[in-house]
Amino acid sequence: MDIKKVAVIGGGTMGNGITHVFAMNGIPVNLIETKQEFADRAMATIDKNLERMVQKEKITAEQKVTTLDSIQVFLDVAEGVKDVDLVVEAVPENLDIKKAVWSAVDAAAPDHTIFASNTSSISITKLAALTGRPEKFIGMHFFNPVPVMKLAEIVRGLETSDETYDVVEATSKVLAKVPVPVNDMPGFVSNRVLMPMINEAIFAVYEGVATPEHVDEVMKLGMAHPMGPLRLADFIGLDVCLDILNVLYDGFKDPKYRPCPLLIKMVDAGKLGNKTGAGFYSY
Ligand SMILES: NC(=O)c1ccc[n+]([C@@H]2O[C@H](COP(=O)([O-])OP(=O)(O)OC[C@H]3O[C@@H](n4cnc5c(N)ncnc54)[C@H](O)[C@@H]3O)[C@@H](O)[C@H]2O)c1
Repeated sequence: MDIKKVAVIGGGTMGNGITHVFAMNGIPVNLIETKQEFADRAMATIDKNLERMVQKEKITAEQKVTTLDSIQVFLDVAEGVKDVDLVVEAVPENLDIKKAVWSAVDAAAPDHTIFASNTSSISITKLAALTGRPEKFIGMHFFNPVPVMKLAEIVRGLETSDETYDVVEATSKVLAKVPVPVNDMPGFVSNRVLMPMINEAIFAVYEGVATPEHVDEVMKLGMAHPMGPLRLADFIGLDVCLDILNVLYDGFKDPKYRPCPLLIKMVDAGKLGNKTGAGFYSY
């Protein structure tokens, strides 16, 4: 099956980027938001990011216009999913919100439609079980900023069919992403490997081994990381890092994933990184 039209639910940080890459690669998008102002904000961001690509001569001005023209905004889930082959959900990482969205999508989408969630940490198997078509449910885990980052972690739930996987893998390639198959376990691969490293970097600061600057310098100069783990943690959001570590800790019941007390304290203090102007660094 070819994906000829897609619905993207949520136009925030990830959803506007996902909409951008589908539309730019010739797959029309129904972008679904809760309020017109949020949809307008998403469209303005997509416009700005496409304009940057025109300035860098990565796309032409005509391609920008065609891309924007192929995005249609909806404020009603049922309307937005009724004629699509694939739904990609990028609403906040909150099980209650995702439950409500998936039950509305399941009731309104055509029988053949494939369902994908961009969740970072909620079980794909659990989300799939909320719908009447777990074999057509899959994780499509993009990375921020979506138009730039090449990876799409494709997460197979317990009942995801081979056919669903094949369609989503092929579609990821149409988007010029590199699909990597992983199975549904807490943190998938990306966060299972990344978050313990970030947590350990925070422990190194907590225990007085080195300053945040020096921890990051070691990882950049010694391990060729483009960005140190603490700078990256600030960029991701310290609250998001803490949430994901808790998912790993609860999911595996293994103390190696326990969040560093310093991370918990910083989140309690509202020092969440770039978005609040302070984390391990000041912004
Ligand atoms: N931010 C990241 O770096 C990142 C990376 C990979 C995956 N993710 C995952 O992507 C998902 C979205 O994250 P985000 O950072 O884009 O969140 P966000 O808060 O920036 O955006 C969420 C958007 O969803 C909209 N929304 C809320 N309820 C809705 C509903 N019922 N119907 C339609 N739209 C609704 C909100 O208005 C908002 O614009 C989460 O599951 C998150 O775990 C995030």
